[in-house]
Amino acid sequence: MKKFSLVCNTCSKSFNDFVEWFASNQVCPDCGGQYVEAIYENLIERLIKNFVKNKHSLKGMWRYYDILPLNSERNIVTAGEGNVSIDRWHFLEAFAKQYFNVSCQVYVHRNDNNNATGSFKDLAGSLVASVLQENNIQQYVVASTGNIGVAFSRYISRYNGTLYVFIPEHSPLFKEAEISIFGQRVYRVMGDYAAAKSMAEAFSREKNILSACGAFDPMRVEAKKTMALEWFRQLDYFPDVYIQALSGGTGPIGVIKGCRELITAKMIKKLPRLILVQTSRCAPMAEAWNLAKSMGFPDGWQKRYPVYDNPDTGISTLATGNPSAYPVLSNYIKESNGDIIDFPEDIVNDLARVIASETSVRLGPAAVVAVGGYFNALKKGLILKDDHVLINLGEGIRRDPEFMVQLNKKSIRVSRSGECTLFDRAQYKNEIWSGLRQYILGPKDH
Ligand SMILES: Cc1ncc(COP(=O)(O)O)c(C=O)c1O
Ligand SMILES: [Zn+2]
Repeated sequence: MKKFSLVCNTCSKSFNDFVEWFASNQVCPDCGGQYVEAIYENLIERLIKNFVKNKHSLKGMWRYYDILPLNSERNIVTAGEGNVSIDRWHFLEAFAKQYFNVSCQVYVHRNDNNNATGSFKDLAGSLVASVLQENNIQQYVVASTGNIGVAFSRYISRYNGTLYVFIPEHSPLFKEAEISIFGQRVYRVMGDYAAAKSMAEAFSREKNILSACGAFDPMRVEAKKTMALEWFRQLDYFPDVYIQALSGGTGPIGVIKGCRELITAKMIKKLPRLILVQTSRCAPMAEAWNLAKSMGFPDGWQKRYPVYDNPDTGISTLATGNPSAYPVLSNYIKESNGDIIDFPEDIVNDLARVIASETSVRLGPAAVVAVGGYFNALKKGLILKDDHVLINLGEGIRRDPEFMVQLNKKSIRVSRSGECTLFDRAQYKNEIWSGLRQYILGPKDH
């Protein structure tokens, strides 16, 4: 029996498999749409089987093999991705209680620990490589700000495929090195992420090589949906609130797909409120959302959004200046009673220090923005009493060694022990908390 088909989200045209979808250049020939979803035969039975009597010895993301768009286990390309913990961070709960009198539970999805390259893009890397292998696709093209490029490079190399990665002009050198070291080709495009994307598209057309097709790519969406399935499996309560740093939007679209499947199987009742967080230096979706919200979401609000050329952010993973997924994504956010907010980029370093000293977890900058979003959501009254909040930590610090170096306050050079003084850790903690406290609580004495 057929396992799945791909169905156009706009006009419901059905594609039998990836062969048909790829053959139509990942565009629906009937309506021009680029958003297809994997629809499974007997979804409910499959879901129940996966949770109740999981016959698979597969772990991590692949424990959901029955509801992933792959027809043979033989084609799985895996490195244990998704096999990560969900931790509870009491210091975030204590802050909510102390300053906002909100009692809530806060969990963090430790995607920072993903086995292969240390970000939640490993989920997508694994599924994309598996689907490409199953469909005999030897060459692939992607534009990337870094994390997706390195994840695809690592996994596609495993089945000996060839990958072309187009990165923006100002991507860090180590990201380029990380991708190419697997034996794949990297092109540094003179321009921003949008320029890298258009060059990738042009190259893919000219050379007739399949390319990654953005935020709605069913391979990436299906991979990301497994995060929602993990919350259902691991947590006593399904989250009321989902928080993630936002760039292109694949993460939340995947999470929504996972939640929808759980709703269909009556395993959960509704979507969590999606609170997505952009860095203040590249926040086109937050800007569009704020405007729409302030105007009471007038007709056509979803289509009004700014496009930033060369966004001036130091967090390259969050540098999507042209948020083309906004019209669809923003509808989902509204349906979930969620919000799109931003977090000041100039507090990110101190917040990373706070998180490392309070939890021993060292995060990459995009993941810090997600945690910053939690604080800002408290400030805006978006976290309510008894909420179960889930923060998706998309990357650990090993995704960004330059960021780690920046976090080191300064080198203290000494040549005699007499030059060394005692360290006042309490004072240090006060210092690293102060900017965040001021921003969230205002300038008064805390
Ligand atoms: C660590 C991390 N967090 C968040 C994002 C944003 O992801 P999305 O595409 O879901 O907006 C990215 C994207 O590269 C990322 O690498
Ligand atoms: Zn269509």
